[in-house]
Amino acid sequence: MNAQNGRWWREGAFYQVYVPSFQDGDADGFGDLRGVERRLDHIAALGVTAVWLSPIYASPLLDFGYDVSGHTEVGTVFGDLATFDRVVRGAHDRGLRVVLDYVPQHTSSEHPWFRDALSSRDSTHRDWYLWHDPKPDGSPPNNWASAFGGPAWTFHEPTGQYYYHAHLPEQPSLNWRNPAVREAMFEVMRFWLDRGVDGFRVDAVWRLIKDARLRDNPMMDDGGESFEIGGAGAHTTVRQIQKYTADQPELPGLLAQMHTVIDEYDDRMLMGELHLKLERVAALGTRGLDIAMNFSLIDAPWNGLDLAKLIQRYYAALPPGSHPNWVLSNHDRSRLGSRIGTERVPGALALLLTLKGTPTLYYGDELGLPDAPVDAGRARDCAELRAPGLGLGRDPQRMPMPWEATPSHAGFTPDDVEPWLPIPAWAGQFSVESQELDPRSLLSRVRELLKLRRELAALRQGGITVLSADPDHLAYLRGDGENSLVVAVNLSDRDQTVAFPGSRSTLWSSHSTVGERDRLPGAVTLAPFEARLLR
Ligand code: GLC
Repeated sequence: MNAQNGRWWREGAFYQVYVPSFQDGDADGFGDLRGVERRLDHIAALGVTAVWLSPIYASPLLDFGYDVSGHTEVGTVFGDLATFDRVVRGAHDRGLRVVLDYVPQHTSSEHPWFRDALSSRDSTHRDWYLWHDPKPDGSPPNNWASAFGGPAWTFHEPTGQYYYHAHLPEQPSLNWRNPAVREAMFEVMRFWLDRGVDGFRVDAVWRLIKDARLRDNPMMDDGGESFEIGGAGAHTTVRQIQKYTADQPELPGLLAQMHTVIDEYDDRMLMGELHLKLERVAALGTRGLDIAMNFSLIDAPWNGLDLAKLIQRYYAALPPGSHPNWVLSNHDRSRLGSRIGTERVPGALALLLTLKGTPTLYYGDELGLPDAPVDAGRARDCAELRAPGLGLGRDPQRMPMPWEATPSHAGFTPDDVEPWLPIPAWAGQFSVESQELDPRSLLSRVRELLKLRRELAALRQGGITVLSADPDHLAYLRGDGENSLVVAVNLSDRDQTVAFPGSRSTLWSSHSTVGERDRLPGAVTLAPFEARLLR
């Protein structure tokens, strides 16, 4: 192993591109690879290390690409393989790594494997999925519920059995106990690794394998912890503890096996989506997953004491070799500004980009985008369409990226084309164009922070110690000795004075453009919602 191996994902920052919403490159109102190619300069200028692309595979798009009907094909709405290759090359030419979403838990019901599985009980691919006989009264084999609501079992009349789907009925779950499935899915990884991708974000990996004895999941009391998409809601699944459908004892071994494919190549990586207790997430980052994605900030109560506790709990839970990482938002959850208030966004991004560990930014975070409301008639997400009006839909956080200030579709798609999701009139004021040249804009400050991350070893590699916390502020030290840094975040709408060791000067502030050159002896007073980095 070369000494540089792993540095890019250990010390760098990730940027998630939800491809349908990033940039329309062929004037059909839907984002695609040509669009991504056109916007690579924006990603490179941000200063991140890697771009993670949501699925671009052949798909009937019921879950917008997370329902794969052809693993080694690019969906026609997304482009073609030649364009994909250009995106990878273009990214690499700009010093960016490319991480592709990999969806091993399920396929689309349109996938040739599943079509064959439906053809008869003896078909080659029958056992590639999870089939079971009905109970004597004809009901499903057990109480397992789908993440999108309703039973996770659908009856297939012609062959007289139920099949399991953790998500939509149109997303049948693969049987990872079957070695043929494993081999076929490992070949899929090799296909994309051979094309130059630097790693995978592994979708729904905490659900990869289910209890072989099909035991019923226990139900949780009201108020219990929930780890499902959309947060607590009306779906049965959120009231079910995923005891037998998630994080089974076989999972770590399976992930280790998956990683042997990564090890066939130089300097590639796996990051896995895990919605589990923080301690379990930390533990799963040792073998198999290079990054066990930590979503705990998304649900954190936004006050200094709770944040400090969460941060300390996470680092304490990490076994040796498990690499810390933080995710603040994604395509499944309400956007940052809508969750914690737009005035707190700069501080939250400062936290994300200065905590110890690899950060993942969601496209539009750098602009401070809030959720965009979507009228019932324009809903596209299956979570909304299946249970309208419950607030489970994920369309608002998938608003097309506003690039330009003036055209009615903000440069995402031409003005005479209807974008796949509405772009509100206010989008232009958040656009890249309107922020790019303003040194006080959030975009400029995020770029500065990412630059500091690249320049300062304390931010990339240094340890972390919480200095002080109360409901209104949080302060921590990164690194030690002369090169140490203090990060102080004011979470309140009043001035806060924060003490620190030594005398320090301001390196970066979310509020003032030029860092103060003056030495501050032992304390700093932060303006409402201000975040600062002090050297
Ligand atoms: C993951 C994805 C989510 C998708 C689900 C089913 O949780 O993040 O968007 O709906 O898997 O593939």
